[in-house]
Amino acid sequence: MTTTVNARALQPDDATTPAPRPTVYIETYGCQMNVADSELMYGKLQAHGYAPVDVPDGADVILVNTCAIRENAETRVIGRLGELRRFMKPDTIVGVTGCMAQRLGPRVLDQARHVSLVVGPDGYRALPALLDGARRGEKFTATDFDLEEHYEDVVARRFEGVKAWIPVQRGCDYRCTYCIVPTTRGPERSRQLPDVVREVQQVVEQGLTEVVLLGQTVNSYTDGTHDFADLLRAVGAVDGIRRVRYTSPHPNDFSDRVIAAMAEVPTVCEHIHLPMQSGSTSMLKRMLRRYTREEYLKCVARMRAAIPGLALTTDIIVGFPGETDEEFEDTLSLCREVRFDDAFMFKFSPREGTPATRMPPEWTVPDAVVTERFDRLVATVRGISRENNLARLGDTVEVLVEKVARDGELLQARSRDFKTVMVPADAAKIGDYLVVQLTGTTGATFTGTPVTNKPERQPLPMVG
Ligand code: SAH
Ligand code: SF4
Ligand code: F3S
Repeated sequence: MTTTVNARALQPDDATTPAPRPTVYIETYGCQMNVADSELMYGKLQAHGYAPVDVPDGADVILVNTCAIRENAETRVIGRLGELRRFMKPDTIVGVTGCMAQRLGPRVLDQARHVSLVVGPDGYRALPALLDGARRGEKFTATDFDLEEHYEDVVARRFEGVKAWIPVQRGCDYRCTYCIVPTTRGPERSRQLPDVVREVQQVVEQGLTEVVLLGQTVNSYTDGTHDFADLLRAVGAVDGIRRVRYTSPHPNDFSDRVIAAMAEVPTVCEHIHLPMQSGSTSMLKRMLRRYTREEYLKCVARMRAAIPGLALTTDIIVGFPGETDEEFEDTLSLCREVRFDDAFMFKFSPREGTPATRMPPEWTVPDAVVTERFDRLVATVRGISRENNLARLGDTVEVLVEKVARDGELLQARSRDFKTVMVPADAAKIGDYLVVQLTGTTGATFTGTPVTNKPERQPLPMVG
């Protein structure tokens, strides 16, 4: 039986929870918002008697928290759903959550017969009850939006040892013509400022010292009384917080108040991820980004004037419908003009139902042209990034040690301006702040040599 349910109607508080503790594994794709949502789902399920596990093998419940932003994000998930079959016991329940679940709804159940639950981003409150139903052999789709839902009463189970992802806004009211997010996440809504501050205080109590405030256009945050400037000041002033970051802001929502808050609050880091998408005004218009090349540059100039040493990163799309050689050259020249520290670069991927898919077919940029432009863009961005990084050699910076590096020998740390710095394993431990001199660079990451023998110790974060 397949049932479509409203998540709120299924309050799980009176649901029965079987003993012994069933295990749950969640695999996360997509952006930090999804990471934060997975932490909420783990928290919710843990409170209902589930035991989180970090491998799918033999788990009682497997949830795949998905992304729909580009076609390949979804293709990967479909492949992975097939693979996960081999980890299933006869009674394992598999659920698909997140943006692809929201976008496809019951179609997921048709495509993958071993999936019992399809739950969108506003339906996680009902997960324990839905799992109980699935255990009885039922199948559910829960994809209603709930504009009140911020999961205020759910305590996230955090994975990151040193920083906390804090959603402050859900959904998006922009309508960029390429983007599926307004469809998968619904309308924009913000949490109340005191609720965010309370969560940040709890994070500090757990021993974490960095927070990243999340929202699709996070600087348009408003709880009716407070704007994003107020939020930065309030979060930045929480006792014990040493670093505040946020992502992703929209260039149109940088009021003077927000820039002033960023400049004046010492805990707010000198880094902004400022998606530009294209350097061409005509292209930005087709994308419905609502700013021109000149306005983007003006936004950058205002921020750089207010915040010394500001690092800027960005998102860029190549091959959007109708992109001419000239428009692409404008993107390259804007990169040269701004000199971004880094960029996420994407080939345009048509998303079902978005306005871009209704543009004239002759506007489609041939694959070979997209690939050639993409490669040139990557080379340009990496070249500038390398030059910027070489110029930083010799600087002394404070880093926060985040994790063991991939090679297993060094520790990976981050500067306030978001540079990745490798430090010797014996120099510190995860969660420590350390002052280092930047003594080497691969062009992308740095090697840091500690300049004090006495790194300031932070309590080890408690996760779990
Ligand atoms: N809310 C954020 C972006 C979230 S999506 C913002 O407005 O900045 C992250 C990035 O994915 C976008 O900035 C964009 O560069 C890219 N993206 C979104 N939709 C895409 C699509 N259909 N094809 C290719 N890239 C896309
Ligand atoms: Fe998508 Fe645009 Fe909203 Fe960002 S601002 S989530 S790119 S619609
Ligand atoms: Fe992907 Fe949804 Fe984030 S589409 S990028 S997981 S908001």
